[in-house]
Amino acid sequence: MNIVTCIAPVNIAVIKYWGKRNEDLILPLNDSISATLNMDQMRATTTVMASPNFTEDKIWLNGKEEAFLTNPRLLNCVREIKVIAKQNSSAEENKMLDWHIHICSENNFPTAAGLASSAAGYACLVYALAQLYGVKGDLSTVARQGSGSACRSIYGGFVQWHRGMEGDTEEARGSFAEQLVNESHWPELRIVILVVNDVKKKTSSAIGMKRSTETSELLRHRIQISVPRRIEAMKKAIREKDFETFAEVTMKDSNQLHAVCLDTYPPAVYMNDVSHSIVELVHAYNSYLGKTEVAYTFDAGPNACLFLMEKNVSDMLSLINYAFPHSNGEGYFRGIPITTRPLPEDIHSSLNVKPHRADLLKYIIQTKLGPGPRQIEEHLLNSSGEPI
Ligand code: PMV
Repeated sequence: MNIVTCIAPVNIAVIKYWGKRNEDLILPLNDSISATLNMDQMRATTTVMASPNFTEDKIWLNGKEEAFLTNPRLLNCVREIKVIAKQNSSAEENKMLDWHIHICSENNFPTAAGLASSAAGYACLVYALAQLYGVKGDLSTVARQGSGSACRSIYGGFVQWHRGMEGDTEEARGSFAEQLVNESHWPELRIVILVVNDVKKKTSSAIGMKRSTETSELLRHRIQISVPRRIEAMKKAIREKDFETFAEVTMKDSNQLHAVCLDTYPPAVYMNDVSHSIVELVHAYNSYLGKTEVAYTFDAGPNACLFLMEKNVSDMLSLINYAFPHSNGEGYFRGIPITTRPLPEDIHSSLNVKPHRADLLKYIIQTKLGPGPRQIEEHLLNSSGEPI
C-alpha cells in the first residue's frame, strides 16, 4: 500500500510541559502528564501517500497548501521515520522511501481555537508515516520532534512524557511518552472544554516557553521542586482514581504555569478575564459543595478545560450557562450531548454568581478519555495524490 490514512487525538496536560533544554531535539525541562481525549469529538486526520510519479513533497493543512521544505519540524519527523524505516523495512518498503510524498491533514475542530491542534496533527502525521513505511515500536520520540506535546498523543488514556536523563548519550531517545493507564481506567471522568471568544493574538507556546526558560526564576523552582512532587502525586491519584487529589494538583499546576508566564520578562499572558471568572466559578462551586468536584486547567490560551465526574456535568453546565449566557443556537453544545437542569434555588445567592454579558463563550465541547491513533479507510487524497 502506498497510501495510508490515520486519525489521532488531542491531549490536555494536567502537569504541564513548559520549557526546553534542547530546542532542536525538543527535550523538555520537566516530565509532564496528560489526558488523551476521545477522537469521536476531536481528532486530526492525515493521509500520506508515496508515489514514483510525484515530482516533489507536498503538504495540505486544513485545505490549504503549505510550504514543505521550510518547515523544519515537519522535515525532522519525515527524516526520523525514514531513518528508522531504513533500518527495519523490507526491500519493497525501502523502494518507497525514495519516492516523494504528499500529505493532507485536517482537524475536525478549529485550529485557531488554540486547542492543542499541533499535538494531534504531528502525532497523526508520524503515526501515518509509520504505517506507510512499516515502522513498528514507540513513535513518541519522533512525534516529540514535531511538537513536544505531540508525543503524548501517541497513546490513549493518561500518558507521562519523561524528560529523559541529562548527559545520556542516547539523550534524545531517553525522552519518550508512556501510557500510565488506558482510556477505560476511569470511565466516569468527563472533560468539558469552554472555548472562550477571544481575538487577541497570543505569544506562541514555543516563544513563550523559550522566554520563560531564559528569564523566569519561578520556572527554576517549578522544575526542581514543584513538578517532581506533583508527578508522583498525580500518578498515585490517577492510579487510585482519587478525584480530589487529581483535581487539586491539576489546578495548582495550571496556576503555576500561568504564574511562570507572568514571571517571564516581558510577560506572556494567556488567560483573560473570562478565564479568571471561570477559575472563580469553579472554586465557588467546589466550596458550595464542600468538596472538590471540578478542576480547571489552561494551556497557552484563554480556553478552559474542566475535569469532572459524569454525574456533575449537568449541574456544572447549568451554572456555566447562568454565569455565561449565550445567544448561539445550534452548535453551541458539541460532543457528548449535554443536558442542563434547573439548579437548586439557593445556589446563585450562596455562590454569589452574577450573569456576565452574553456570548463570552464561543462554544462548549463535552468529551472523555480516549485511545491513541489508529488507521482508517477513507483517504483525503485521490489516486493521483490531490486533495479530495
Ligand atoms: O507542544 P507545544 O509546543 O504546543 O507546547 C504545549 C505547551 C502546553 O500546552 C501549554 C502545555 C502542555 O504540556 O501541553
